[in-house]
Amino acid sequence: MQTHEIRNRFIQHFVKAGHTEVPSASLVLDDPNLLFVNAGMVPFKPYFLGHQTPEFNTATSIQKCVRTLDIEEVGITTRHNTFFQMAGNFSFGDYFKEGAIKHAWSLLTGSIEDGGFGIPAEKLWVTVYLDDDEAHDIWANKVGVPEDHIQRRGMADNYWSMGVPGPCGPCSEIFYDRGPEYGVDGGPEADEDRYIEIWNLVFMQNERGEGTGKDSFEILGPLPKQNIDTGMGIERVAFLLQGVDNVYETDLLRPVINAAEELTGSTYNANHADDIRFRVIADHSRTGLMLMLDGVTPSNSDRGYILRRLLRRIVRSARLLGAKGEVLDRLIGVAAETMTPSYPEIADNWERIRRVAVAEEKAFTKTLAAGEELFAQAATKAKSEGKTILSGHDAFTLHDTHGFPIDLTIEMAEEAGLTIDRAEFDREMAEQRARAKADSQAKKKSHTDLHVYREFIDNNPTVFTGYDRLADESTVVGIVSGGEKTSSASEGEEVELILDRTPLYAESGGQMADRGRIVTADGAIVDINDVQKVGKKLWLHKGIVTAGEFAAGVAAEAQVDEKWRHGARQAHTATHLIHAALREVLGQTATQAGSMNKPGYLRFDFKYGEQLTADQLRQIEEITNEAVDRDWAVNTTEMPLEEAKAAGAMALFSENYGDVVRVVEIGGPFSMELCGGTHVAHSSQIGPVSVLGEASVGSGVRRIEAYSGLDSFRYLTTERLLAERLATEFKAPSAELPDRIAALADKLKAAEKQLADLKAGQLLANAASHLDSARTIGDVTYLGLNLPAGTGMKDIRSLATDLSKRLADRPSVVALIADGGQKVPFVVAVSDQAVDKGVKAGNLVKLMGEKVGGKGGGKPSMAQGSGSDASGIEAALAAIESELA
Ligand code: ALA
Repeated sequence: MQTHEIRNRFIQHFVKAGHTEVPSASLVLDDPNLLFVNAGMVPFKPYFLGHQTPEFNTATSIQKCVRTLDIEEVGITTRHNTFFQMAGNFSFGDYFKEGAIKHAWSLLTGSIEDGGFGIPAEKLWVTVYLDDDEAHDIWANKVGVPEDHIQRRGMADNYWSMGVPGPCGPCSEIFYDRGPEYGVDGGPEADEDRYIEIWNLVFMQNERGEGTGKDSFEILGPLPKQNIDTGMGIERVAFLLQGVDNVYETDLLRPVINAAEELTGSTYNANHADDIRFRVIADHSRTGLMLMLDGVTPSNSDRGYILRRLLRRIVRSARLLGAKGEVLDRLIGVAAETMTPSYPEIADNWERIRRVAVAEEKAFTKTLAAGEELFAQAATKAKSEGKTILSGHDAFTLHDTHGFPIDLTIEMAEEAGLTIDRAEFDREMAEQRARAKADSQAKKKSHTDLHVYREFIDNNPTVFTGYDRLADESTVVGIVSGGEKTSSASEGEEVELILDRTPLYAESGGQMADRGRIVTADGAIVDINDVQKVGKKLWLHKGIVTAGEFAAGVAAEAQVDEKWRHGARQAHTATHLIHAALREVLGQTATQAGSMNKPGYLRFDFKYGEQLTADQLRQIEEITNEAVDRDWAVNTTEMPLEEAKAAGAMALFSENYGDVVRVVEIGGPFSMELCGGTHVAHSSQIGPVSVLGEASVGSGVRRIEAYSGLDSFRYLTTERLLAERLATEFKAPSAELPDRIAALADKLKAAEKQLADLKAGQLLANAASHLDSARTIGDVTYLGLNLPAGTGMKDIRSLATDLSKRLADRPSVVALIADGGQKVPFVVAVSDQAVDKGVKAGNLVKLMGEKVGGKGGGKPSMAQGSGSDASGIEAALAAIESELA
């Protein structure tokens, strides 16, 4: 069964049972705990936790997932893909264990004719959580799974959580028995390579707290409702139903392996080491594709680093298999072809993805070349000194400076009759890892080596007084410099000051930190450029000592930069107004996904599936400015969380709120949000708000940006001056500008069309003259032409039809191509007599496509395509000639 078919059957099964189909979220959903979405339930988290009420009680989805914990494992086991599709069904307080179990069973064992997967029941095994008698009973008595196919397992296997605080619960897993040739008897307890897990049913009923691993965390308590979260691995079911050996050989990935065979000259299934490389290529090509589709680009950190690592592993593996030229375009292109039927958006994004991949390969190939040179020098040196071992230090430099994979170094050393001091290399790597870890820990402000701050968090949590005052008397209780606690700091030093009380706002809730100064009576000054919270309790004032000396224990005054705070207040209150206006215009489902504001500027991210119209933007701007004009009081009140929720206050679900929350209310029901930020006292103090526009920032999430206060005024002035200039240029009042410009554009378009028609006419008029260039290859008449640059697809097609008609009395092939500027369009027309001889236009355009970096297709008698690389035009025509010959 093809993978696309498996996907369809899954969705249909659950839609028929009343589930709402929910499209996959982007892989890079805004969740601070996750690099990539790694389970089907991630987008539904707020529903499980009861923070948000879904519009449905049951849902089904096929979620794109990426897990990159063990990249090194790829290709070695049979069942690990870095990208996979998790099919799931979800119940939010609707059905529970029995429903989930029966739904899964009927799909797996249902007959093919009835839309099921047709898996014989005796091939399936199930596991349940140790003391989950209820699930055991349902499997045994209501479904009829024999007792000896039901196993009980502990927390590590049968208790599911996201690995971080969030919803969790006991689970029941379904396994497929591949048969005795794949391992020992005894069910999943005995062998998880023979018994492959295909579906996990999570009975999501608790909330977990902090902790580590799969089994040592605290259960905070039950969720508001009993829910169901399941995950069926599409790729695993595909490999089992397709009767292939592993997840890398399914209909979606095997074509990539085939392409790799062609590119490298090596054969799959010849030896184990090569097979692993082929599988790495297949797996990573697809993961790379899907990450780039969701907007990730290669870089040296976070998501971008993972992508870079995957792409370089492909290039490296292909090289080790014997590839000489560039490979990513082709390999990822094949992955794109197999994935497009399920993800049609790939087609629209392909050019962008291709550019990113090709650029990354070029960059890596460059460092490869430099590394190869360095290697040659090191090898020569070692040999001249009579050594047979290349130093681990050289190998490390190659790796560290040139991104040179150690495997490649080892292989090249072998060719040169050398080995590598692997122990030394490993030692240097370990040291570097330790350094990198220390670095990255130091970088993550809230996860910095907490022990420096621990005693302050416990003994001197900062008291924030900045809602009421902009300056405050305080004591410097601690000084941290370069990650170490210190007793004093002098001029020029970068420091973090800890005060017992402070009016300076620390970055949080989207609002940037206050700027300000901390001064002492004897004239010492620290200019504060950032304030961050540690452990929610301690304010770190970061800045540079610009005068005098600071000592721990000294009295100081903390002063907020008033102008900065004024702008910050305007922008933050404006953010609330925009949020409220947005929901008024787009409906209550346009919920907040994140925000940022600083003096004069704000941006607001929200969940919404479509582009906003100009009119919607205008309405949002209008409602916002009306709210400013109403001069509403901005009221802040503290109250218990429950009370705030009952009053309808909006909360952001990635935030953890305490029991008592601060509610900011503007204009009664107009805007009420949980918020710890600083705000103006009356809405009119915001000044004008100008919406700059909106854009997509990932699938299903959009961003609106705006200016507030004086920045907004200045922006409007600039726009006005621009309109005035255009009016002068066009000698028309600005109100008439749109019509004038549209008329001009129409005229231009008409002229362009006239020109194109003229050209096409000329081309057709001269059609007969081209016949002279026709040649005979075997018993086929072949006419291949590189047409004048700028000829478009439409004209090429007309000419091909015309020429082919003129050659219709014999077996003939007409191939036309042109450098169209942006694109390279091409057409092949084959006469009936040639078609009878087995010549197919569709095959011929594919050949052309390969030479000009594009694709094509069509009928045997007429096919067309388009590429992007005009330098391959001659090669494309030559490819047809040699194919005909
Ligand atoms: N959330 C469950 C999993 O990822 C279904 O296995």
